[in-house]
Amino acid sequence: MRPAKQRSEPVVKPSATRDFKMGMVVLIFFITCLHLFEVTYFPETTVISDEILLGVVMLAVIYLWVQELRDRRKLEVVNDELLASQEELKDANMASMKALIVSEEARDPYLAGHSRRVTEYALAMADKMGISDLDKRHIEYAGYLHDIGKIGISDAILHKPGKLDKEEWTIIKKHPEVGVGILSPLKFLPEEKIIIRYHHERFDGGGYPDGLKDKEIPLGSRILCIADSFDAMNSRRSYRPPLSREKIISELEEARGSQFDPKIADIFLGIIKVDDTYFTKKDESS
Ligand SMILES: [Fe+2]
Repeated sequence: MRPAKQRSEPVVKPSATRDFKMGMVVLIFFITCLHLFEVTYFPETTVISDEILLGVVMLAVIYLWVQELRDRRKLEVVNDELLASQEELKDANMASMKALIVSEEARDPYLAGHSRRVTEYALAMADKMGISDLDKRHIEYAGYLHDIGKIGISDAILHKPGKLDKEEWTIIKKHPEVGVGILSPLKFLPEEKIIIRYHHERFDGGGYPDGLKDKEIPLGSRILCIADSFDAMNSRRSYRPPLSREKIISELEEARGSQFDPKIADIFLGIIKVDDTYFTKKDESS
């Protein structure tokens, strides 16, 4: 670990120090004042000619300007390197998080591969919608982490073969907020935390945790909601087999405008109706 005193040193050392630059400005000011004094009170003597003064000032200004450009270029290069390092660090952290999610899902044969598939479906929609690479990256990370809040929920509830009672549902419905709480120490996932928090909101306002509706729900959350529901319907559960292709399509169509953003639901329906492989991506081990 680097000593604390080294962290306070600038990453980019300026080409000319601030003190030196200030010294040059003061010197130019002093020479100019001297020249004005000379012209005013001793017009017949010429210690510094106008041409020499102008030349000195021009040279000093050009020098300072060039130094400024060089410093700016250096800062741009270092800034790019810092951003690249930040992305690498984020990727490394995400790799650990994905491993955690995969191992957690592996405990439940009905959930194995769920986050990976949800991410895949969400990115397929994002591609069709022409979403930027940066926003797709947020959706990808949020897709993998969307149910991380379920880690704290007991197996007795998560793997319960029958229907959940009211108290159990209350616990389950806290998982988006619990997930954000788990991720809160990680300062580099602000957009992902927002997407995760709202991935169970409904387009009609009947979802949780905050009952947001329509465009109040972040775009990434509206996309994940559809991907998540599709994978749930398309996967085997302890209490039912996967729903049929026709049943899933009719459920998605029926929930347009109520649970799902109708435009995004139409995009996803357009994708899965022409690609039957979406209906076979179930119960796979990641
Ligand atoms: Fe969830």
